[in-house]
Amino acid sequence: MSMPGIDRSAFEHVTVMAQEVVQVIAPAADGVYLDLTAGGGGHSAALLEAAPEARLIAIDRDPLAVDAARARLARHGEKVRVVHAAFTDVEQVLRDLGVAQVTGVVADLGVSSPQLDSPERGMSFRQAGPLDMRMDTTRGETAYELIARVSQDELANIIYQFGEERRSRRVARCIKQALDAGELASTTDLRRAIVRAVGPRRIAGMDPATRTFQALRLAVNQELGELGKVLELVPRIVAPGGVAAFISFHSLEDRLVKRAFLDRDVWFRLTKKPQTVGDREREENPRSRSAKLRAARRVPSALSFEAEPVEEIDGIS
Ligand SMILES: C[S@@+](CC[C@H](N)C(=O)[O-])C[C@H]1O[C@@H](n2cnc3c(N)ncnc32)[C@H](O)[C@@H]1O
Repeated sequence: MSMPGIDRSAFEHVTVMAQEVVQVIAPAADGVYLDLTAGGGGHSAALLEAAPEARLIAIDRDPLAVDAARARLARHGEKVRVVHAAFTDVEQVLRDLGVAQVTGVVADLGVSSPQLDSPERGMSFRQAGPLDMRMDTTRGETAYELIARVSQDELANIIYQFGEERRSRRVARCIKQALDAGELASTTDLRRAIVRAVGPRRIAGMDPATRTFQALRLAVNQELGELGKVLELVPRIVAPGGVAAFISFHSLEDRLVKRAFLDRDVWFRLTKKPQTVGDREREENPRSRSAKLRAARRVPSALSFEAEPVEEIDGIS
């Protein structure tokens, strides 16, 4: 699968909280690890650096990310497999590879910098691009197709629910008007329609289009639905004693992760409160600012309440 205009060699994504993920998962030579969101392979590489003998399976639904992660992890040879799939298909992926359960899982949710920064992907209002927004460019509905398919009320609900945009009804009306007038071909057109609805003023330093773009991206990629499903199936694929670590970037995601890890039949929480990035990382990588890491250890179901919790990880409370 190739996308015209995209430089496959330039996959630049700064990995968030790599050290913390390695610390909490504590990979071992005989372990099998799973990276649900390979991206540029940053977390996978960090885990393998800590345990070069370990096996690792990495998944991403973005074909460009799969290429980038394969290239980055190639030196680890057969011990590493990078698979193009949605993470909700992970059980099938593991079956195909003959793996029953894994020792540790990491998920670094949301989008990568190349997805956000490539105008061709249509995820950002900062540069002109097609109204696409799909992480998996090989299938599914684009943002334009979604806007055209849903009713104005449904569009308003999406913008309200996933963007927490108070003026969602007005925004949806202006977007639909632009669509009907044939003036909704690009991200620039979409931003113009949003500004028509809410005005050009930045609110709390935020571009007026931020919330609506986030909402449409979440809807196009069904991000919260995917996360909800993977959180339900992760207990089946993590072996007792194994660790799951999830990094989220906004409250809608974090809420789902937090709730899933509260199930004491399944998880012993290693982070009572989410861990956030340190000052240095925050300065060096402004996109890491909103990152929240939650981690939990899989308990054997039958022992859920009698089980003595395994030790907490140093520095994470
Ligand atoms: C923040 S990036 C990961 C970056 C990576 N940890 C690194 O350090 O290079 C998130 C990645 O998750 C992928 N992704 C998001 N939702 C997914 C899903 N439901 N299934 C598979 N991949 C998904 C995106 O395509 C993106 O490449």
